[in-house]
Amino acid sequence: MIDLRSDTVTKPSPGMREAMARAEVGDDVYGEDPTVNRLQERAAELMGKEAALFVPSGTMANLLALLSQTRPGDTIILSEGAHPYHYENAGLARVGGLLTRTIEDPFCKMTAEQVAEKILQVDDAHYSPTTLVSIENTTNRGGGAFYRFDEIESIGRLCQNRGLKLHCDGARIFNAAIASNIDAQFLARPCDTISFCLSKGLGAPAGSLLCGPRETIHQAHRFRKMLGGGMRQAGILAAAGLYALEHHIDDLANDHRRARKFRAALESAGVTFPLPSPTNILYMEVPDPIGLAKRLRDNGILFNPPRTPWLRVVFHRDISDQDLDQAIEIFKQNL
Ligand SMILES: Cc1ncc(COP(=O)(O)O)c(C=O)c1O
Repeated sequence: MIDLRSDTVTKPSPGMREAMARAEVGDDVYGEDPTVNRLQERAAELMGKEAALFVPSGTMANLLALLSQTRPGDTIILSEGAHPYHYENAGLARVGGLLTRTIEDPFCKMTAEQVAEKILQVDDAHYSPTTLVSIENTTNRGGGAFYRFDEIESIGRLCQNRGLKLHCDGARIFNAAIASNIDAQFLARPCDTISFCLSKGLGAPAGSLLCGPRETIHQAHRFRKMLGGGMRQAGILAAAGLYALEHHIDDLANDHRRARKFRAALESAGVTFPLPSPTNILYMEVPDPIGLAKRLRDNGILFNPPRTPWLRVVFHRDISDQDLDQAIEIFKQNL
């Protein structure tokens, strides 16, 4: 099967498996896993932050960012399509006790002006104070759109002026860095905290990093334990992460190239793509997405069952050029 459901389906590469097998490990709840410690240091360095915390998932990284920078009853601002709002089973409300003010946008991005309109900071006992803004870079539901540096900088400046924390859900921050041709560290700079995932296009089996100021990461560490995210000999997983950071980041450019080729081929066959798709995530508008998904599945291409008129296609490191050519042919025959 050619699996275009998500970049989370990527399997560890042979080199990664070898690094995992060789990993030096210890009990990370005691802070004694040398490989986890190395990964955390490397992640902090890559993002230009004081400290980083290795956590099991992107969902937990986002939740920890919120828990460690807000208080129950606060309000946060984020996109209507943002992962913590849309796909994290209300963790922010249920665990964080947070209220949300959301912004609608087809790319699931926000501008500083839109954010400014949503901030509520009045000395009036009726209202919950706005204390944090969360952006997503690249956006999952926004077709892999990315923020330009100046856009993040404007939001960062606004947050600083208004005393708000800024979190970036950078699950695919290296896709954003490649697409915008800028070091990830710059994209992280205006943000207090940034999380990124090892388990998506980077191909590791699990794990995300939350990076930020030492004190915030210290708080996040306490909340990670509370949520049951303290892992023991996690160096096996951290080794996969270190390997991914060293060997797999540049390969993300191939996923973008394949996504562009796929789009161009299908556009010339008459398919509409409603969003620009500058990275590895594409949405296609087809008359009968459920029927098409079924025909494609019968012919060897896997998709998530479409819930909207749009079909999502995600390119990743386990899709070769040969798979791409084959996928284009199968699509064309089944449209
Ligand atoms: C933008 C974004 N943030 C966070 C997550 C959550 O990651 P995880 O599945 O590791 O919890 C995802 C997962 O797809 C995502 O796309």
